[in-house]
Amino acid sequence: MTIQLLSIQNIDQLYEKAFSILKEQQNTGAKNFGLATGGTMIPLYKYIRNSALDFSHCNSVNLDEYVGLPKSHPQSYFSFMRKHVFNTKPFGITYLPNGETANPEEEAKRYETTLKSLEIDLQLLGVGENGHIGFNEPGTSFTSETHVVTLTNSTRKANARFFHTIDDVPRKAITMGIASIMRAKQILLIAVGAKKRPAIQALLHGEITEMIPVTVLKKHGNVIVLTDLGFKNTNHDD
Ligand code: GLP
Repeated sequence: MTIQLLSIQNIDQLYEKAFSILKEQQNTGAKNFGLATGGTMIPLYKYIRNSALDFSHCNSVNLDEYVGLPKSHPQSYFSFMRKHVFNTKPFGITYLPNGETANPEEEAKRYETTLKSLEIDLQLLGVGENGHIGFNEPGTSFTSETHVVTLTNSTRKANARFFHTIDDVPRKAITMGIASIMRAKQILLIAVGAKKRPAIQALLHGEITEMIPVTVLKKHGNVIVLTDLGFKNTNHDD
């Protein structure tokens, strides 16, 4: 299986490239876009907001959402997506897990059923410092579908920068599972900054292991990794 590595050290050029991949997909008929949250996506979403692209005939499907944060909370992924994308670039239908639900387990099931009715043409992915994708923390089964997760301390710490204190960071989330993510036709993973080096090193040069969820991408046939980390531009074969 091949991972296409695009190593671009200039950050503006890196995001320009990410945008051009997305635009190309849209021009060639992609309809369902898997979207991600997190700081890594913010510059890409700015490109989208400032572009002439029209997504009103496309659908968006988000990876994950915190459990227990009201939608109106500025750090809910519902609010994040509105602020960075949807208020300016509305999609036809926008799918996001409902983090306000009284029954997160049921909501996860409902979301997975929705996902199975769609085919995601392009899935955007960031990566956690511990190698998580979506909110699939180390140890998550590669066969997992959408489920409720208890966030690790390292993830809560990493995300505390978006909240007043770490105590404000939710303890649970609903996330697409690893198997759900792997159903996407194409995946674009963006990793920027030194903190992501161990995860990308493992993806490019390590063993496939559930302890580092991102390494599952080696099993997918159509992945682009876009990074500023200075890894050598190449196609990586297993
Ligand atoms: C978050 C999200 C992920 C994201 C990752 C990295 O917790 N659930 O979807 O890719 O962690 O976030 P950032 O881009 O802010 O480093």
